[in-house]
Amino acid sequence: MILVNSIDFSSVPTQLESLRKHSIVVADTGDIDAIAKWKPQDATTNPSLLLTAAQDARYRHLVDADIDRMFVNFGSEILGHIAGRVSTEVDARLSFDTEGSIRKAERFISLYESAGISRERILIKLASTWEGIRAAERLEKSGIHCNMTLLFSFAQAVACAEAGVTLISPFVGRIYDWYKAARKADDIPIEEDPGVASVTKIYRYYKKFGYNTQVMGASFRKTGQILELAGCDLLTIAPDLLEKLSSAQGDVPKRLSPEQSSGDQMEKLKLDEKSYRWMHNEDQMAVEKLSEGIRRFDADARKLAQVVASLAKGERAAA
Ligand code: E4P
Repeated sequence: MILVNSIDFSSVPTQLESLRKHSIVVADTGDIDAIAKWKPQDATTNPSLLLTAAQDARYRHLVDADIDRMFVNFGSEILGHIAGRVSTEVDARLSFDTEGSIRKAERFISLYESAGISRERILIKLASTWEGIRAAERLEKSGIHCNMTLLFSFAQAVACAEAGVTLISPFVGRIYDWYKAARKADDIPIEEDPGVASVTKIYRYYKKFGYNTQVMGASFRKTGQILELAGCDLLTIAPDLLEKLSSAQGDVPKRLSPEQSSGDQMEKLKLDEKSYRWMHNEDQMAVEKLSEGIRRFDADARKLAQVVASLAKGERAAA
């Protein structure tokens, strides 16, 4: 026991321990050792995270020339360390292709099931485009659960809830990045953070109108953004921020709860394709970040294919 000025610091929880009382903590990484260390309930990956992991000698045994199979190899290994679900992302190239997205999701599920893993433990990650949302709607009806990513606008969130998807990942950090650049500012204080405000608004809307879709805040740049969303259904956090939260002590107050929003003055929206496209298009940040996000994930997926090909070439030369 450490006693300083009669305060027992050994009884003060870390911020991570406190946060876990309010939200399900998810690890946002392809680093399997980090997942084993932090023991999150769920884990999320994306093509950029798997590009990093595939180049790590510790995970060479998971690399496969068939990229879908490689994603499933990583997902299966991750599931060995967690009790919950892993998210596996559909190629960004299919972001405007409903049928192609469905075929890809079904292939992932069939590869997981061949490895003895039930679909209940998988979330298929799809970009929150109109086409991606339609794919998710159909996949959910066939018992394949979806996690809608690259979500920046309120229109995207409303359309996802209406489609009955299992979970959405509204981004915080990339919204913060956009406004920071637009304002030529070094930082934006938490109380004015547009990324935090976006997740808060979506969460309150979902709870007010009783949607079952879970809200998982994603893409964080600093611990303050995470703490401000304590109470959100889930929060997916990169290992460096998990480390920071576990080395800081202090009680974390609950910021979001379903009851808070009952008195909110909000109108329930119903969006068809035209109104969805119009409303999303009105949000310049969301339009730019969604299209940039698709390009970035696609670029990393193409780099990943090159990395895998050169690893295979190296192995053949060494044999
Ligand atoms: C998780 O679902 C997202 O892919 C991830 O949080 C994005 O984070 P980034 O904005 O730091 O790339």
